[in-house]
Amino acid sequence: MAQPSLPPGPRSLLPLREIRAIRRDVLGFLDSLKRNYGDFSCFRMGPKLVYFVSHPDLIHDVLVTHHRSFGKTWMLQTVSEALGNGMINSRGEANRRKRELVMPALVKPRIPEYAETMVRVAERTARTWQDGATVDMAQEMVRLTMAIGTETLFGADIGEQADEVGSAITEIFDVYARARSPFGEIFERVRFLPARRRFDRAKELLDTTIYDLIDRRRRSGEERDDVLGVLLAARDEEGRAMTDRQLRDEAIAMFLAGHETTTNLLAWLWCLLSQHPEAEAELHDELDSVLGGRLPEMADVERLPFLRKVIYEALRLYPLSYVIPREVLDACQLGPFTLRPGSLILAGIYSMHRDPRYWDEPDRFVPYRWTPEMKKQLHRHVYRPFGAGPHTCPGEHFAWVESTLAMAVLIQRWKARVVPGHTVTGNPIVFLRPRAPVPMTLTRRQSAR
Ligand code: HEM
Repeated sequence: MAQPSLPPGPRSLLPLREIRAIRRDVLGFLDSLKRNYGDFSCFRMGPKLVYFVSHPDLIHDVLVTHHRSFGKTWMLQTVSEALGNGMINSRGEANRRKRELVMPALVKPRIPEYAETMVRVAERTARTWQDGATVDMAQEMVRLTMAIGTETLFGADIGEQADEVGSAITEIFDVYARARSPFGEIFERVRFLPARRRFDRAKELLDTTIYDLIDRRRRSGEERDDVLGVLLAARDEEGRAMTDRQLRDEAIAMFLAGHETTTNLLAWLWCLLSQHPEAEAELHDELDSVLGGRLPEMADVERLPFLRKVIYEALRLYPLSYVIPREVLDACQLGPFTLRPGSLILAGIYSMHRDPRYWDEPDRFVPYRWTPEMKKQLHRHVYRPFGAGPHTCPGEHFAWVESTLAMAVLIQRWKARVVPGHTVTGNPIVFLRPRAPVPMTLTRRQSAR
């Protein structure tokens, strides 16, 4: 029998039905695709053909083996324009050169220099918290990671502005929620719509903040090896420095890619520990016995194996990039199908992380599962919270150290519980974040010295 030209999937006569289902519950929609049609399916989103793959080998093919046949896509022209031509928005040779340029500021040997700032900023947060107070943990983590990110990568504290800049970043990504509506196209074209105006204001604020960081560094005459330092020192083949616009585009890539992800990882960690007091108690034991009340330092990152397991498990259950989208550039062969150029393909990281074929009790938070034996037995490509291939996250090591040290400081001193009656749910837009606000009540730990 001849092979059908398209993978199976819903063939709706109503072209808007899938868009509505995605808008209502995108994770539920992707889950139903996998349940009903298997690891390789496709559907239409308005005029666009969208493939969905959730098998580790197929995901590996898209991100690694055949990566040249796929381009990064932000789907919305508006967002793409706001991001400019930085690393986050480029591919092929241009992307490789940008990565080479920035990587020296993010490689393992550089991270210990950032560790002290990570701990100092987390300690400052721990000191501002009040026993018995209820805080929006999502917002607290925005402030924390914004301060760490700007101080370590750009060498400046944006202080009071952190909330505003954090909201601007959220606003830039939130346009996706609106764009999923049947009127998404209108958002792209009509500049005076309130949502579009909010987006433009957010972009303007980010631009002003970044140009100000660049200006401050130039005026200070300081030479540093952080991200801004390597960008300022970079020269092209003709010995020319980057223009302000090029600097802005690269800096914005770091801001957007690094901030939303780590912020939300930390927020998920608090929610999970609130729901799992037994894991929290084990973490307290580990922190008390390794640190004995002192502040952590870089060397402690390797000495906190249970905290590492907790973070592994949080990233499995809530991979921030729950799907990694790509545009199909040429008619490449994937499994038994020839993909159509111009269509979209989604690598289903969340689906793969919760697939019962690879994980026992996939929907449960079980940090204990991460034993060395289990890691050895795991399917090679089944755990991909940081992506894979040429676009794999350049900030992975930074993120591990930041989340380990920040949580070690805070959890040593504070417990937090989601307020009774509030249910934390996921809010997957570009990243899978907990729906804000996340109201949590703080209790000072008695045993912390
Ligand atoms: C828990 C934290 C983080 C997670 C889960 C995460 C995840 C990811 C993933 C899945 C990708 C690949 C996207 C794709 O293939 O299209 C990516 C790319 C990227 N990440 Fe991260 N990330 C995190 C933290 C960071 C940090 C802290 C930084 C910067 C310091 C950063 C900078 C970037 C950049 C610049 C890219 C684009 C790379 C490229 O296109 O070549 N990320 N991240």
